[in-house]
Amino acid sequence: MKKQTIRNVDVQGKRVFLRVDYNVQFINGQILDDHRLRESVATIWALRGNGAKVIICSHRGRPHGEVVPELSNRPVAEHLSTLVEEPIAFVDACVGPKARAAIERMTPGDVLMLENVRFHREEEENDASFAAELASLADVYVNDAFGTAHREHASIVGVPRHIPGVAGLLLEREVDYLSRVSEDPERPFALVLGGAKVADKIAILQHLQRNADVVLIGGAIANTFLKAQGIDVGASLVEDDRIDTALEVMRQAAKGNHLRLVLPRDVVIADGQGENVRTVSVNRVPPGFRILDVGQSTLDDFRAVLQSARTVVWNGPMGLFEREPFDHGSLEVAHILGAIKATTVVGGGETAAAVARAGVSDRISHVSTGGGASLAMLQGEVLPGVDVLLDVPEPAARAR
Ligand code: 3PG
Repeated sequence: MKKQTIRNVDVQGKRVFLRVDYNVQFINGQILDDHRLRESVATIWALRGNGAKVIICSHRGRPHGEVVPELSNRPVAEHLSTLVEEPIAFVDACVGPKARAAIERMTPGDVLMLENVRFHREEEENDASFAAELASLADVYVNDAFGTAHREHASIVGVPRHIPGVAGLLLEREVDYLSRVSEDPERPFALVLGGAKVADKIAILQHLQRNADVVLIGGAIANTFLKAQGIDVGASLVEDDRIDTALEVMRQAAKGNHLRLVLPRDVVIADGQGENVRTVSVNRVPPGFRILDVGQSTLDDFRAVLQSARTVVWNGPMGLFEREPFDHGSLEVAHILGAIKATTVVGGGETAAAVARAGVSDRISHVSTGGGASLAMLQGEVLPGVDVLLDVPEPAARAR
């Protein structure tokens, strides 16, 4: 990474403003998925260990400037203290006298969590005086909020314009993995794309196709490609306004350059509300039926390709993942990725959930904590929250 990290700054006795992305859901008081919290613990430990006063800032949900009690950071602080194995104080403000008083009471090694920063509309507006107010709470800014680094918000891009800003260990790892697979993947490089929106995935494809050797396409986006080939996909979800885009991708791939596209040859279909589930060849989808997952022969094709890959990036589920039995294709792809000897990178909320549900997260090289942010990086965008951080000084950058 060409940006400075917490290794480059002396934080002893300093107040550190640590922006994280703890945008997580709770159901009946239980956190649904604490992946984002667990991944940030190393940074918190490192900062505490080096004598910092760690002030944690995060958003939750989209309250757009309203105080929404269900989106408070309080339960997050409670859960985080079980992971950090230290008490974490919480203050129900993120600026103003209450927040200041709580920070003044801190001693080196203490951790304090501020209230949801999006309870102030100035956060999303990237209001300059709000950013200055947040920055005045600390001496150093650390960004570990990879999942929000694509947003130009006050606590992401505004604060590091006032105090020195560096990357946390999670942000560093995310950027390193995602830029390595984007710029310099070990080949053969296979891209697995699923989900519903062709537009999102086309941008990834356009950016990665010069390095990718094969693209495996599942999920609803495959329906648009199949229809573009003249296949009748029944009542399946199709983006008709993207058929031309799909045709262009297939034309480019057929032009004789190295890129190979693999589309489903069999699919799991159902009618009505998901009745009469069966697997058929893609040419035999009856009227009124919808394609809801990839079939077993397609998964066999995918497995054969993935077993010889050295780098695999997967973004987007293979079917209607939230509903059994249409989660089978995604779970199976997760198992394949967990078993192969390749650098495997998984991005996107549902894709990460598939890997977690298959129980293979720890066998994937990198499961990104970012949804939109990982998409943006795979599309070759520079994330504003990364761009604004301090560069590694030139000679040191060359020596790396
Ligand atoms: C996410 O969950 O993708 C991030 O926290 C960003 O949230 P946002 O899309 O509401 O900005």
